[in-house]
Amino acid sequence: MTILVTGAAGFVGYHVSQALLERGERVIGVDNLNAYYDPALKTARLDRLKQSSGFTFHHIELSDASALLQLAHHESDITGVLHFAAQAGVRYSMTNPAAFADSNVLGHVSVLEFARRLPRLKHLVYASSSSVYGRNTQLPFRETDRVDQPGSFYAVTKRAGELTSSTYSHLYGIPQTGLRFFTVYGPWGRPDMAYYSFARAISRGEDVTLYEGDALARDFTYIADVVTGVLAVFEKPPAPGEARVLNIGNHRPESVRYLVQLLERELGRSAKLRLLPRPDADVETTWACIDALHALTGWRPSTVLEDGVSRFVSWFRQYEAR
Ligand SMILES: NC(=O)c1ccc[n+]([C@@H]2O[C@H](COP(=O)([O-])OP(=O)(O)OC[C@H]3O[C@@H](n4cnc5c(N)ncnc54)[C@H](O)[C@@H]3O)[C@@H](O)[C@H]2O)c1
Repeated sequence: MTILVTGAAGFVGYHVSQALLERGERVIGVDNLNAYYDPALKTARLDRLKQSSGFTFHHIELSDASALLQLAHHESDITGVLHFAAQAGVRYSMTNPAAFADSNVLGHVSVLEFARRLPRLKHLVYASSSSVYGRNTQLPFRETDRVDQPGSFYAVTKRAGELTSSTYSHLYGIPQTGLRFFTVYGPWGRPDMAYYSFARAISRGEDVTLYEGDALARDFTYIADVVTGVLAVFEKPPAPGEARVLNIGNHRPESVRYLVQLLERELGRSAKLRLLPRPDADVETTWACIDALHALTGWRPSTVLEDGVSRFVSWFRQYEAR
């Protein structure tokens, strides 16, 4: 199988590409290697993927639809598209909303325009986000919940992606699944995310900025579980014309303070906490109902936070000391 992975130099795209290559698939990776966080980390991930003969890479800006369309001419044997490229970062969407409109709205449309020109496409799986549940307070979050109160412009762009996908499936018969990821963490993770920036601050003796309130909790989902979930869904395309959306989470919210304690334990240092009010864009608690994904694929996450944080910290120590 030949599979196009967008955001292949990113955290999730890298891990999924690695798993596909290990299975013997041919992977075409696409990324613009932007500098939202240190591009050296993206290059390091890519260098590992390039060790596999099944991997080819194209430096492509997705908001420029023509670049991807050119690829469709040369790569007409693509049977799967895994679309992870996006501008991530809830708080960053308050300072640079245009970057989110470019990558997550225009970029998503480019991928769909590309997909409708692939004669052998069986399934397009794309990344959505738990942030679409926005200001909802009913927990756990279910796919059947209304999602019309986004809390950030990032969430708006992710919901726009879901709606655009649904329309493209209806109009052009593309089988699609959107996966709403819940706080994915692990080795080769994103330095802008709390678990990574906390680890950095604790190890350097710097302040850890934590938002006030004991209820601050996230459904932290370990990357290896996300990879098995993505691949399980990928094997189960919906009927042509159908676009579905599924949660992929750990189904177990954990307090952010407990995450800090685990990091302290693994790093052998205490955190210097600095408490700030929670910004409006950040939700208090996330918690995924994963019944639908389980019913479709039999998937369940298997990594508890204690083990996942331990594995993250052992990678973090090596990577930061390089
Ligand atoms: N990691 C999480 O906890 C999480 C949670 C919810 C949703 N998501 C979604 O999952 C997907 C993957 O997230 P991630 O954590 O791997 O993020 P990431 O930032 O590590 O990866 C995204 C990759 O996309 C690339 N990219 C961004 N804009 C692009 C553009 N216009 N053209 C080409 N490439 C572009 C970036 O360079 C980056 O390498 C994203 O869609 C994100 O919104 C992630």
